[in-house]
Amino acid sequence: MSICVQLSIKEDTSTPMKAKKQTAEAINEEQIRFLLRYAVMAPSSHNTQPWKFRIEGNKIHVFADFSRWLTIADPARRELFISVGCALENLWLAARTFRYQGSITYFPDPASVEWVATVELVKVPDLHDQESLDLFSYVINRHTYYHTFQTQAIPASVQQQLQPWAYLNEVSLFLTDEISRRQEIEELVTQADIQQFANPAYREELGYWIGQSAFGTPWLMAKMGQWVVTHFNVGKSQAKKDANLVVNAPLIGILYTQQNNYESQVKVGQVFERLCLGCTKLGMGVQPISQPLEIPELKVVLASILPDPGMYPQHMFGIGYPTTKEKSTSRRSLEEVMI
Ligand SMILES: Cc1cc2nc3c(=O)[nH]c(=O)nc-3n(C[C@H](O)[C@H](O)[C@H](O)COP(=O)(O)O)c2cc1C
Repeated sequence: MSICVQLSIKEDTSTPMKAKKQTAEAINEEQIRFLLRYAVMAPSSHNTQPWKFRIEGNKIHVFADFSRWLTIADPARRELFISVGCALENLWLAARTFRYQGSITYFPDPASVEWVATVELVKVPDLHDQESLDLFSYVINRHTYYHTFQTQAIPASVQQQLQPWAYLNEVSLFLTDEISRRQEIEELVTQADIQQFANPAYREELGYWIGQSAFGTPWLMAKMGQWVVTHFNVGKSQAKKDANLVVNAPLIGILYTQQNNYESQVKVGQVFERLCLGCTKLGMGVQPISQPLEIPELKVVLASILPDPGMYPQHMFGIGYPTTKEKSTSRRSLEEVMI
């Protein structure tokens, strides 16, 4: 079964404005820092955490940190902006949960691609946004799932529940559990791994982040992993492992957009983070599958799988019931990401 969902922005029905008069209160720096501690728990490609924040009164300026850009794996910066979108969504959910109301302005300075968004907040003590609260409560327990999923299929009723979490109308979600589709994607992942690992620059970049313990491995193992990946072409064995993960993922999701620009990609990140939190809530794991999107020819093939012609696939992931619990990965301190 394949489901394609074109989603629309939800009306904010969560604010009980009718009965009582609302009194908005200012937000201070300490309160904003508290919210940002949740923003930085977001997923990011290779755990690069490519974000920075600046506080100005009741505004939080969100920036992309290009010093952490994966220039080889992600030359178009798609994954970088998706990652910043994930952090933005965590910030937004935290704000709503702690009764802040406000707005997000995307790319407020047309001359700057690094200045991704400005979030403006005021405290509304009576605000109660149950949906944000529900999702927010999984921010700490959400982890990327790296192991093989259980073989158990995802029932159609559960697949339907994923739809509301993809809430921005610029972003569409395609879900497929068809075995022939999963095999097509498996083939693309194999081709991508073989091609990428044959490139020493790709291996060096990946090795660097492995060596930083970005994926949660202890220091010694991380350094050994860096040495192996940098010096040996492990493409064949990696392809076998990744192909196995993909074909055994009971459900594959692709987020896609009509526009192929940074703002759309930030919004893809926002939707992806909601989906990750929603899946965590439903007891499911999410496993990004970026390799075919990192190779232009394979990205074109992936686009042809989408139900709407002329659309841009932006992010792909497997979804399923986990067989094991994943560990937390490290994060930069808040001080390191404040400017
Ligand atoms: C845009 C993006 C692309 C990603 N691509 C992959 C991927 O191809 N394979 C993978 O195993 N994890 C991928 N990840 C997951 C990251 O490796 C993970 O978020 C990071 O290591 C932090 O771990 P955590 O999500 O458990 O907090 C991706 C995450 C994002 C946001």
